[in-house]
Order: sequence, then C-alpha cells, then structure tokens
Amino acid sequence: MAQFAVNPSFISFAGGYPAADAFDFDGIRRASEKAWSQGAKDCLQYGATEGVAPLRAALKALGLARGIHAEDDQLMVTTGSQQALDFLLRATVAPGDTVLVERPTYPGALQAFRLAGARVVGIDGDAEGIDPQAVARAIEAAPSKPKMIYVVPTFANPTGATMSESRRRDLLALAAKHDILLVEDDPYGLLRFSGDAVAPIAAHAAKDAELRKVSVYLSTLSKVAVPALRIGWMVASSEVTRRCVMAKQVSDLCTSPWMQHIGAAYLDSPEFAAHVPRIIATYKERADAMVTALHQAFDKEWVFLVPDGGMFLWVKLPRGVDAGELLKAALAQKVVFVPGAACYASEPDAACLRMSYSTASPEVIREGVARLAHAYRSYCVG
Ligand SMILES: Cc1ncc(COP(=O)(O)O)c(C=O)c1O
Repeated sequence: MAQFAVNPSFISFAGGYPAADAFDFDGIRRASEKAWSQGAKDCLQYGATEGVAPLRAALKALGLARGIHAEDDQLMVTTGSQQALDFLLRATVAPGDTVLVERPTYPGALQAFRLAGARVVGIDGDAEGIDPQAVARAIEAAPSKPKMIYVVPTFANPTGATMSESRRRDLLALAAKHDILLVEDDPYGLLRFSGDAVAPIAAHAAKDAELRKVSVYLSTLSKVAVPALRIGWMVASSEVTRRCVMAKQVSDLCTSPWMQHIGAAYLDSPEFAAHVPRIIATYKERADAMVTALHQAFDKEWVFLVPDGGMFLWVKLPRGVDAGELLKAALAQKVVFVPGAACYASEPDAACLRMSYSTASPEVIREGVARLAHAYRSYCVG
C-alpha cells in the first residue's frame, strides 16, 4: 500500500502521517540552532539512557499541564513511542501471556504484541471506547491473568473514538484491582478540535499509589511536532520504568541526544505553543471536509463517528461489503485507504475501513471522496 500512498497520481487516505505542509519548518530550524549553540558537545555525545535533562524537564511540564505527575525515576525518553511499547513488552510480557486490546486497535501495537508472542484478546469498543465491564469478563475468561490492557483512549487510531471519563476511571480501577498494567497510548491527545477535554487515564492515576502502580502512559512528539525527531516517552511506576531502561540500554543505549536537545528547545519555544493550535485548526478543516464529502457521497450508507480530534475516521460499510475488495476498485480510481482488517488481532470485520484526513487539503479530500464514490459504485455493480 505504501507504494500507492507515495505515488503523486494517487490520493492517499491511508497513512497515519501528520500533515507535512503544516510542519513548523522555521520553528524546528530555530530549535536546532538553539540546541547546537547552547551545547554542541552535548548534542554529539552519548546521553543518559533515561533521556537528557532539558527534554525530561520539558516533558514533565507538558505532562503536568494535563495532570500527569512523574517523579524522576518514573519517566523515560524513547526513540518514538513505538519503541516504548516494544520495551514495555520485553520487560513485562512473556510468550503466551495474554494482552487485552480494543477491537479494532492500532496495527503497529498488534504487530508488537505478535512479535512478543502474546496471546491477544480483542474486546469490542464503541463510540466511547472499550467497555470496562466487557474487559472484566475477558479477565475472568482468560486462562491466566492477563499481563496488560492496551488502549488508545483519546482520538483512537483507528476509530477516532474517545473513551468517556467514567470508563477511564472504571478501567483503571479494574486494572488496579487485578494488578494488570493499563497502557494508555496517547499520540493524539493534544489534537482536540471540538468537544470537552477529557483527562488522560494517567492523570486519574496520579492521585493514588495503587492506581499509579498499574498505569503506563505513552506519548510522542511525532504528531504534535515532527516524526523525524523520533522522540517518545513513557511515564510508569519506578519498577516498570527501571526494567524498560534496562531494555533500552541493551537495545540502543540512548535516543539521539542531538534530537532530544532539539525537542527540548522546541517544546520550550513560543513557536511550539503557536504550532499546536495551528495544526488543530488544519485538522479540523480537513476533518470537516471529509465528513461533509462522505455524507454527500454516501448519505447514510456509510456509517462513521464524527471525530473530535486526531487524524482518523473509521467507516462501517454496509453489511456484506468487503473493504479489501473495495480497495481494488479504489486503486483503479487512484485513491487508497486502509482496509479495517489490519486493525484486528483475529476475526476481522471485513466491512470496515480507516480513512486519514491529516495529509490532504480540503480540495484533494473532496476529489478523493469523489473517486471513492466512483469505486464504490463500480464495486456494487460488480
Ligand atoms: C496509536 C499509536 N501509537 C504509537 C504510534 C507510533 O508513534 P511514534 O512515531 O512515536 O513511534 C502511532 C503512530 O502512528 C500511533 O498511531
């Protein structure tokens, strides 16, 4: 699919990439210059495995603004949040262990779970995310106690759904009761363009030592700054953090200090503060364009949740439509999306697809949806 996604004659709704046309080129350049002029030696030398001090301080401040507290031994910088998930699995999950996930979920996490040899159990989610009562039933039904519950509770990849406040509290209490790690993967939480803010699960955990023991928070600068910095981070109990730091020591010793100092300089800059509202406005405009175009093209035939933030829209096609087959017709019209099957650990729902509105302008989105409507008609006449 990647070959089509980068082909300029194709319109891609497939990737989970942030909008390159909205990158803050000047802000990132100035942050690079600042990092270099303040300490070129520090940029070029190895750094502490846990992350360099200025970035750790900036990430703590970013977390605190959303109610997430991290002591020094509870925060670790990683090379993207994908790496944090990898280390977490190496540190806490053995082959055969059960991991509970929402159905559908982020394909990159599913790949990591598979590689770790985990037994992945999917639990159906709805417009409010995963239902804690269904999770409780899955815990009871598992052959041995699950090691991890993995969720993307805010503007989920792939569904765009946001878990309600009450479900967050209930899920955390459930995880604490059974002493199961609750991993909150939060790349999109800052990208809200409508609706009321919902506190991260890790902010609820901050108030209670028992809850903090099981809460693991992952985030990244990839979607709010640029992915090329490869800056992610994890906030977890000191014990889980210590084990992940050991895994990172073995794997890559440290995340590039150069990139970390640039990340720190950027987070501390007025440019970052201005950039986030700007990309939120960009994504809102693009989400609105896609929602309107889909409603016009497919009326009520294609069902989807209107997202309050993030980059994705999850479409339920009429029963019996196979998104994989529809993709073939879409490719003929030079438009691509992700068939939903990639987002399921097992028993995929073939009648779903993920559309990303982040990278295309409103005009291109309208053209892409028109091509999709063409493809759908030719698929239906068969
Ligand atoms: C839910 C989720 N987690 C993690 C990642 C990985 O992000 P990073 O660039 O920080 O490795 C992504 C990227 O698309 C994502 O959607």
